[in-house]
Amino acid sequence: METKKSEENFAPMGLTESQWAAIQAIRPLDEMEVPTDEASRPVDVYLSDARFQSEQRDLFSKVPVVATVSAYLPKPGMSLAQDCYGVPLLITRDREGVARAFINACRHRGSKLVEGDEPVQSGRVSCPYHAWTYAMDGKLVGIPRQETFPSLKKCDLGLVALKTYEAGGFIWVGLDHKESPEMLEGSDQVCADLEAFGLDNMYVYGRRKYDLETNWKFVIEPFLEGYHVQRLHADSIAKLFDDVPSVYTLLGHNQRQVSGKAGFDPAVLNGNPDNLHKYITHAYLAFPNTIVVTSPYYISVMVLCPRAANRTVVDYYMLVKEKPETEKAKELYARSFKLIDEVFGGEDFRAALIQQQGLQAGGVDTVYFGGLEKMIGPFHDSVESFLK
Ligand code: FES
Ligand SMILES: [Fe+2]
Repeated sequence: METKKSEENFAPMGLTESQWAAIQAIRPLDEMEVPTDEASRPVDVYLSDARFQSEQRDLFSKVPVVATVSAYLPKPGMSLAQDCYGVPLLITRDREGVARAFINACRHRGSKLVEGDEPVQSGRVSCPYHAWTYAMDGKLVGIPRQETFPSLKKCDLGLVALKTYEAGGFIWVGLDHKESPEMLEGSDQVCADLEAFGLDNMYVYGRRKYDLETNWKFVIEPFLEGYHVQRLHADSIAKLFDDVPSVYTLLGHNQRQVSGKAGFDPAVLNGNPDNLHKYITHAYLAFPNTIVVTSPYYISVMVLCPRAANRTVVDYYMLVKEKPETEKAKELYARSFKLIDEVFGGEDFRAALIQQQGLQAGGVDTVYFGGLEKMIGPFHDSVESFLK
């Protein structure tokens, strides 16, 4: 286990230098250049089972992925069973506060140790079958009737550990216990940016899972482009944005988009506004499969877990500054949580579903990306760079 705290010089409003430079690159509406970069892909990259297997083997087993948000396990002694990836994971925070991850399987006869999917404060986990008990650091600490296993040594039978990092407000894991993946280049900047927003110290107001019959890349794509906002979201959030390109930055394989809200005037930055998120929306792709979107009073984190060529489980978290105490805050967050379901669930995820359905019909062989979707091509390039 390694803990990686990002280092960065801070710019105004607690931002990183890199975030601040991107924000300053946002131009007033009438000065925006029209991007004309084009790209395309054959539909097999979404539909083919062989391609899905290759992504699992060459990408998802080889790079750290987000298992959950740090804020979901805020205290030592907490644990969480996480099944979204299809591999049963047990995420813990040990007595020293170090985040760890294990295969959620008992070393006696393999039973899953923890069921359910809510974080619990327990200090230990005990197998429901014969009650072998493990500490939060994975050590086997108790075997009932141990004299009946004269040859077994407890010290050899700790939980199977996965490589784990904690950075940027996320607990990252290597999903394959035989691999020991390193954090990707550029992820340190993403983590520094997210820590600048305080993501590592927020409160999980709500979590929701979506089991979608669609390819994971269809679910990611609307979060990499602004082209659909005025169209797909015409009746919901379109009025909050202008039909203009964002400022895009590639950070290794990761991506950052920064965009001004409707009618954005860069002069607002001179006033050192107390809540930047009212004026600017940030969206990140923490490669390969985690999306972060900022809103004025909350941050959305979506971990997209590919389960089959045509199935994706989305693990959605809404993070807020602190647990709401006032009626006003409770109402605001409840309304926001509902809005997210309507917009992300009812519009963006729906787009991913109907895209899968349309392409499965077999008549369309290529998809095209225009200038306002110019970061989708680099996303595919990144995925493909891992495939053998
Ligand atoms: S399978 Fe876990 S204690 Fe027996
Ligand atoms: Fe959208």
